[in-house]
Amino acid sequence: ILKMTDLDLAGKRVLIREDLNVPLKGGKVADDTRIRASLPTIQQAMQAGAKVMLMSHLGRPTEGEFDPAFSLAPVADHLSHLLGQEVRLVSDWLEGIELSEGQVALCENVRFNPGEKKNDEALAKKMAALCDIYVMDAFGSAHRAQASTHGVAQYAPTACAGPLLAGELEALEKALDNPARPLVAIVGGSKVSTKLTVLESLSQVVDQLIVGGGIANTFIAAAGYNVGKSLYEADLLETAKQLRVAAQERGGDIPLPVDVVCGKEFSESAEATLKRIGEVTEDDMIFDVGPETSKHFAQILKGAGTIVWNGPVGVFEFDQFGEGTKALSLAIAESPAFSIAGGGDTLAAVAKYGVSDQVSYISTGGGAFLEFLEGKKLPAVAILEERASQ
Ligand code: 3PG
Repeated sequence: ILKMTDLDLAGKRVLIREDLNVPLKGGKVADDTRIRASLPTIQQAMQAGAKVMLMSHLGRPTEGEFDPAFSLAPVADHLSHLLGQEVRLVSDWLEGIELSEGQVALCENVRFNPGEKKNDEALAKKMAALCDIYVMDAFGSAHRAQASTHGVAQYAPTACAGPLLAGELEALEKALDNPARPLVAIVGGSKVSTKLTVLESLSQVVDQLIVGGGIANTFIAAAGYNVGKSLYEADLLETAKQLRVAAQERGGDIPLPVDVVCGKEFSESAEATLKRIGEVTEDDMIFDVGPETSKHFAQILKGAGTIVWNGPVGVFEFDQFGEGTKALSLAIAESPAFSIAGGGDTLAAVAKYGVSDQVSYISTGGGAFLEFLEGKKLPAVAILEERASQ
């Protein structure tokens, strides 16, 4: 695909799609990770003398309606602060934006436009008409085929990938297409069903697949253990069994915990009890892996060539059930492996245990990261490839 860094942007009208879909609190940006991740792209374009127009969605407003609760105003303020320069928020941007070279403006939430989500052709053409060069840089939205991520790339005079998107793809390809082995994946989260495709696809390529949370409980139950009142999916026991057998037949494994930390209720004050996996009783809920299991998983991670991480292995928001996720975070930090982490909960764990700088690559994608792990072609990337081959 064509990259922004291959192009001369001087004097050009450059329309950049970022993913500035960040959490807000009290009218302010609560976590600016995604904004910071997009800064190098924005700064490069400004320094190159481009007339920079930024697009993003924020949340999921009612399609086609202005709603102040979903305005990008707090993002414009925050961006102005980070850039040290006023970033104008433009509401009627589809009518055109007047900018001089090196100036930047932020277009109001793309989802206020009717047709954005259904990738309306007329809307995409209007967006395309605003620019000389369209830059897709929103990795976090690359799994969406919408007017601002897909349609516009079809009609813009030139369409390319921005540095953030290119970097994300490079890191993910390095981890999955031709990984240094052993390749170890950690997939945590509450349900097998929501991550079934990820589990199926990863179990085909990884050497070890560490499962955590409710997902692990389903595997534990599938191996014949009592999981008490733990969250698990009874209808997926057979699937879990098959995944494990298939992994083992390939010479890999989905290792199960030998000890777990249980509680009687889901609460911050719940008492934590360490149990062997065979000792879980009817009124127990498994909330974390135990120290022996953590040690075993940590050894696997320390010996890995590549680590892909999505989802915690315990209820780490409650400290008494966070030791497993903490131990894994620290093991990843110490491992010489190329490591990549993605997804909201995972990034919260990485931040909580202070290992952000030791993880080789932190993805800005949630759903997009998962779809990449599922082996799906991201539509916003596919259209750039199509454009490049024309
Ligand atoms: C995300 O937060 O995962 C992306 O910004 C995509 O948002 P969406 O699921 O509303 O399209």
